[in-house]
Amino acid sequence: MTIRAVVKGVGHYLPERIVPNAEFEAALDTSDDWIRSRTGIERRHIAAPGQTTSDMATRAARAALDDAGLEPSDLDTIIVATSTADLTFPSAATMVQHALGMTNGFAFDVQAVCAGFVYGLANANALILSGQARRVMVIGAETFSRLMDWTDRSTCVLFGDGAGALVLEAAEGAGTSADRGILSSDLHSDGTYRDILYVDGGVATRTTGHLRMHGKEVFRHAVEKLAATAHAALDKAGLTNDDVDWIVPHQANLRIIKATATKMGVPMDRVVLTVQDHGNTSAASIPLALSTGKARGQIKQGDLVVTEAIGGGLAWGSVVLRW
Ligand code: UT7
Repeated sequence: MTIRAVVKGVGHYLPERIVPNAEFEAALDTSDDWIRSRTGIERRHIAAPGQTTSDMATRAARAALDDAGLEPSDLDTIIVATSTADLTFPSAATMVQHALGMTNGFAFDVQAVCAGFVYGLANANALILSGQARRVMVIGAETFSRLMDWTDRSTCVLFGDGAGALVLEAAEGAGTSADRGILSSDLHSDGTYRDILYVDGGVATRTTGHLRMHGKEVFRHAVEKLAATAHAALDKAGLTNDDVDWIVPHQANLRIIKATATKMGVPMDRVVLTVQDHGNTSAASIPLALSTGKARGQIKQGDLVVTEAIGGGLAWGSVVLRW
């Protein structure tokens, strides 16, 4: 028998305010047509003034606990993947832990920008397989709207806010790729590329800063690296592209998502797409897509799901799991 980290529940939260592309046309030299055709984005949700990453993460966590039929005290660990924690410290995860009324267990953040949720899943899996935790909540939550330079049309139209959460639980499997749960992961980073996507603020500057991106460069790395990491994770699990029921990609750009699916030989009707409605929500985009995909009736128990993401660092990776 093999221990597997199996999905027990999923949930998400999106802030109320929806900003359609047309809203940018008044203040910026841009158009709905440019944003749609270059990115696939049609609208995004933006957090209300004062609404924080930990607020949204807590709402997503409650939805996932409801879906799992569990109480906060049933969890051993909370991992929040975010680059936009409310404060420099304490972690967003301890804020969520407190908001849930949980004083047992331990909570920490993972910061791998848009790849954060994939890194969080891999860490949760390691905690469960090593016996350090039985039930782990992995949350991706971001308020990237607070990092935007609203005069920079090449970045501010791309991002949105939101949160998604997954509860993983230890379960016995047979040790084959037919098991439910996380089957493999593949993680990478390369700081050589730290300056093609970064925030120009932080403790060093005593400012929050703004997101800066060389979009074309990031695009080139994404297309090259995402299919490769997904293949590597499938290979580790003893599976091939033909076994994939759903690709649940990081939702940055529809053109990147299509190019990756083509490289993987997986048709677009097996890709969960939310980029049109959510924009790029960084570490929140994969759990938002998992939760949305399940709610739409796309992802069902037993389906083979491949998640893949790349972002600032560069940091990238993939997780293969059977739902
Ligand atoms: O989540 C982290 C990972 N991030 C990503 O994966 C993002 C990856 N990059 C991208 O998605 C794309 O590179 C962008 C969507 C950011 C840009 O698309 P692109 O096709 O690479 O466009 P570009 O940067 O080459 O710009 C083409 C033109 C430029 O004008 P010129 O120099 O050709 O005159 C830009 O100034 O489009 C212009 N442009 C815009 N025009 C209207 C840039 N942003 C806008 C805009 N509206 N919002």
